[in-house]
Amino acid sequence: MITEPHLADNFGRRFPYLRLSVTDVCNFSCSYCLPDGYKKTGCESFLNQEEIVRLVKAFAALGVWKIRLTGGEPTVRPDFVQIAQRVASIQGIKKLAFTTNGYKLPERAQSYYDAGLRAINISIDSLNAEKFKAITKHDRLEEILDGLDACHDAGFESVKINTVLLKGYNDNELDDFITFVQDKPVSLRFIELMRTGDNQDYFSEHHLPGTAVTEKLLARGWHLKPREEGAGPAQEFAHKGSKGTIGLIAPYSKDFCKSCNRLRMSAKGALHLCLFGERGYPLRHLLQSDDSSEELQEKIMALMNFKKSAHFLHDNNSGVRDHLASIGG
Ligand code: 5AD
Ligand code: SF4
Repeated sequence: MITEPHLADNFGRRFPYLRLSVTDVCNFSCSYCLPDGYKKTGCESFLNQEEIVRLVKAFAALGVWKIRLTGGEPTVRPDFVQIAQRVASIQGIKKLAFTTNGYKLPERAQSYYDAGLRAINISIDSLNAEKFKAITKHDRLEEILDGLDACHDAGFESVKINTVLLKGYNDNELDDFITFVQDKPVSLRFIELMRTGDNQDYFSEHHLPGTAVTEKLLARGWHLKPREEGAGPAQEFAHKGSKGTIGLIAPYSKDFCKSCNRLRMSAKGALHLCLFGERGYPLRHLLQSDDSSEELQEKIMALMNFKKSAHFLHDNNSGVRDHLASIGG
């Protein structure tokens, strides 16, 4: 029997999905992530297009078929559309997605689609313009909501909204979010705030457990959908009266890591086996020529042995990364 190539770890998990950060830079200043905005570090050398193409080709040869471009804010790269075009045309890549804060989305949605992007995750932490501004420091809620519609018009197959649960900001908006998706074919994901090195006090003040969402949904007649084969760690809920669905990503919940199906690359070319893993494994030296492709693939396979079963956040491993902007959340 011929088995398809695939990446797997020592715990039986498979990794068909790579989240690839193309820049650390972000133009927003979300209070939980980059409250003072992105600060230059002095060595802003992010993977160039050639490096990105070599990297994705190697992962594709190892069975990865879904790529998500992330940042920072990936669309701040002037060559973002070109990157998307090149990645989309790599053999074996069946699905190209990206995560964005929605900046200039109304006028850009079509060009993203035309480049080959088919799935988009837009961050919207509040449906109230004032609060949105307080969280992101940008008065752009309306633009981003227009952008959401523009994505449907452009033909995107999947439009998702990421909403970080924030006590004191959006905990009183859960009903509004649920109503919002009622007549929209979107999947909204509530994400539990994660503790990072930069946001420890903020975390204590604003962390809202995902159970707040679960309780609300069940009380409003929503039900938990059965897990689909190969699905990631989100729990998905549906309601017969709602076009949209709602998901919950609760990294502190039991068994969250069991369905892990993704790997991450930083914009500077390091492989991160876990969002919370403290270190990245540098691969950039193997991206300098097509000749090192085999060595690169062997290195990636060897690194899979270091992937741990879980993040162990409960054992006082805060998993601290300064913020998630460098690894795309
Ligand atoms: N906790 C949860 N989500 C976060 N993101 C960034 N920082 C955090 C955090 N500390 C999310 C953003 C966005 C995605 C890029 O990552 O809200 O949806
Ligand atoms: Fe930028 Fe996303 Fe961080 Fe907000 S959460 S500052 S949009 S990287």
